Amino acid sequence: SRPLVTSTLTGLALLAGLTAGGAAAAPASAATPSDRSAPRHDTLFPTQGNAGYQVRHYDVALDYDPVLNHLDATTTVRATARRTLASFHLDLEGLGVSAVTVDGEPATFTRRGTELVVTPASPVDGRFRAVVAYAGTPQEHTDTDGSTEGWVRTADGAIALGEPVGAMTWLPSNNTPGDKATYAFHVRAPSTVQVVANGDLVDRVVDGTDTTWEWRATDPMATYLATVAIGKFDVEEDTTTSITGRTIPIWSFTDPTTPVTPETRAGLKDVLRFEEKRFGAYPFTSTGMVVDNARVGYALETQTRPFYPGGVDTGTLVHEMAHQWFGDSLTLVDWHDIWLAEGFATYAEWLWDAKHGGPTPAEHFADLYARPESDGLWHPSPRGFTDSADLFGTPVYARGAMTLQALRERVGSRDFFAIVKAWAKAHRHGSVHTQQLVRLSERISGRELSGLFRRWLDVEGKPAGY
Ligand code: ARG
Ligand code: ZN
Repeated sequence: SRPLVTSTLTGLALLAGLTAGGAAAAPASAATPSDRSAPRHDTLFPTQGNAGYQVRHYDVALDYDPVLNHLDATTTVRATARRTLASFHLDLEGLGVSAVTVDGEPATFTRRGTELVVTPASPVDGRFRAVVAYAGTPQEHTDTDGSTEGWVRTADGAIALGEPVGAMTWLPSNNTPGDKATYAFHVRAPSTVQVVANGDLVDRVVDGTDTTWEWRATDPMATYLATVAIGKFDVEEDTTTSITGRTIPIWSFTDPTTPVTPETRAGLKDVLRFEEKRFGAYPFTSTGMVVDNARVGYALETQTRPFYPGGVDTGTLVHEMAHQWFGDSLTLVDWHDIWLAEGFATYAEWLWDAKHGGPTPAEHFADLYARPESDGLWHPSPRGFTDSADLFGTPVYARGAMTLQALRERVGSRDFFAIVKAWAKAHRHGSVHTQQLVRLSERISGRELSGLFRRWLDVEGKPAGY
């Protein structure tokens, strides 16, 4: 890794003085959607991730004791080095590492902040395989906005939530959203609890008083979308048929202490159908939900199987399912592009409202647009924030969705939905930057749109007119 010193570093990151894994990138404040050279790496969390390699697959074996909240784990990282690396790092916060091997040979390692720095017996180049053995009591991670993520303990187990950086509390990883990989989870826990993770349930093996659950996520997934939940759940298995005619499994795991009914769970099928009509085919091999009584104040679009705290309301269901296209299948590389996830997911709620007797997107827009210049909605701009505490702020969600409505007003509904569908299709299972959406919108509508996107996403304050 090489040091990253740009004006985007927050005071906190500068104080931490950690080396960054990221490639040096232009300051985000100077980047507009029309810039040619999009950064290949996130610029908001300079201490996360390593641009020197790309992970292909994580094989995660966890042995969890819910009573002691103790984890005994081995994670195998199959990666490809972009150049010869004498050493590399994985992100890992807390826990104790007992051994690391690289391509079967013992490697030396040190801990530096939240980095696990690995020095293999000989430099890696091209494909390599790192195996990390680690154990301990995993920690929660407190974000700069005060919210809780990471390994969150519940009354009967735990749930792993990773947006934006919490995956490192249980998974040694290249913890940056631009690096997507496939996953296998083998989680051993007492047979008195259930285990859910992303993707497809492929096996369940009972051994004495324990059960090992095997889940596989075979489509690329960012670390922040990985989840494992362990606890007492009502398990529901069902299927649903996509607009493409493909039938996929639904696995829903619901904490019995939450008021989730079979009707709530059934709502998922309606939402999927609604969103497929507007966004195109659902991108993954399975779906479902995880409802767990974790004390966090948000739901999360954990890939294939969103997490809902305490209960599920339809708006949130619509929002998290929309993220399966926008955020999960199409994943931002730089957190400054978070509006590409939250703006679209919020817009999906507006579309749902309009179809179910609520306000139309134009009415949502007008309501918000009436807010005065001094309102928090206008500051900072959706892409202009420099403090990670603003990552899930009102501008990202509401002004992000307003950006889409401004686009729709400009190009018309027909072109707008053509853009949305083409966007989801062209970058399916990929990584995206705002400027790619600008170019695609210009191509489909035949209009110059960089000014509109810049005014709505980058310029501070309330845009004058739209
Ligand atoms: N992406 C989630 C949603 O809006 C919100 C995640 C918030 N994360 C956090 N650490 N506060 O659906
Ligand atoms: Zn969201």
